[in-house]
Amino acid sequence: MAEEKTVLLLGGSGGIGSALADGLRAAGWKVAAPGRAELDLEKPASIEAFFAKNPAGFYAVVQCAGFNNPKPFEALTRADVSRTMEINVMGFFDVLRRAVPLMKQNGGGGRILAVSSIYGSFSRAGRLAYSMSKHALNGMVKTLALELAPHGITVNSLAPGFVATEMTTRNNPPEVVKELESHIPVGRLARPEEIAATALFLLGPAASYINGAVITADGGYSAGGFQK
Ligand SMILES: NC(=O)c1ccc[n+]([C@@H]2O[C@H](COP(=O)([O-])OP(=O)(O)OC[C@H]3O[C@@H](n4cnc5c(N)ncnc54)[C@H](OP(=O)(O)O)[C@@H]3O)[C@@H](O)[C@H]2O)c1
Repeated sequence: MAEEKTVLLLGGSGGIGSALADGLRAAGWKVAAPGRAELDLEKPASIEAFFAKNPAGFYAVVQCAGFNNPKPFEALTRADVSRTMEINVMGFFDVLRRAVPLMKQNGGGGRILAVSSIYGSFSRAGRLAYSMSKHALNGMVKTLALELAPHGITVNSLAPGFVATEMTTRNNPPEVVKELESHIPVGRLARPEEIAATALFLLGPAASYINGAVITADGGYSAGGFQK
C-alpha cells in the first residue's frame, strides 16, 4: 500500500474481527479496534465520545461486531429484537453518521464494509431477530452504496456462512455443527482467517469496482439451496 490507510474496526475482539485486525495490520493498515468499554454500539453517547477523541475520522469503517441469541418466535421479546438491532444495525448507523461526513471531508474516497451473513438473504428457524437485523444491514449497505459512490466511497456487505468462532459454537452444539458441515460442499466451517481474507480484498484497491454488493463466502452452502 502506497500510503497508510486508517480503519475503524468494530468487533475487533471477536473471532472474525481479531483475524481481520491481524490481517489488516500485516497489510500495513493503521487499525483502531475499540473494545466495548470504549465504543459500545448499544450506547450512542459512547459513539459520540469515541468520535470526539478521533476527530480526523477513518478511511474505512468495518462492522464486524454482532449479536445472535437464537430463540423461537414465541419466546422472543421486543427487548431481544431491539438489542439485536441496536448492536447489528443501529449502532453501526450511528457510527456511520459520524464517520461518513469526515470521510467526505477528507476527500480521498473510502471503504465501508459490513460483515453481514447468509441470513441477510435467507434464514433459519429461531433466527428471527438476527436474520431481521442482517436483512436490514444489507438494505442500509445498498442504499449507502448509491449515495456515497460519487464521493469515491464504496459500501459492501460480506456474507459468511458458518465460521469457526464462539458465536457458532455457542449457538450450535457439536452434533449440530457436524450436521451443518455435512451440508456444506467444502465440508467444514470457515476459518476466521478465510473470512478476514475476503474482507481484506474488499477493503483494498483491487475491489474498487465492487459497490453495493453482498459477497457470499459460505463454502457453497447456499448455492445448492442448503441441500446435501
Ligand atoms: N461466526 C459465524 O458463523 C458468522 C457467520 C455469519 C456472520 N457472522 C457475523 O460476523 C461478525 C463477527 O462474528 P464472530 O463470529 O466473530 O462473533 P464473536 O466472536 O461473537 O464476536 C462478536 C464481536 O461483537 C462485539 N460486540 C458485541 N456486542 C457489542 C456492543 N454492544 N458494542 C460493541 N461491540 C460489541 C464483541 O465484543 P466483546 O468482545 O466485547 O463481546 C465481539 O468483538 C458478526 O457480525 C456476525 O454476525 C458470523
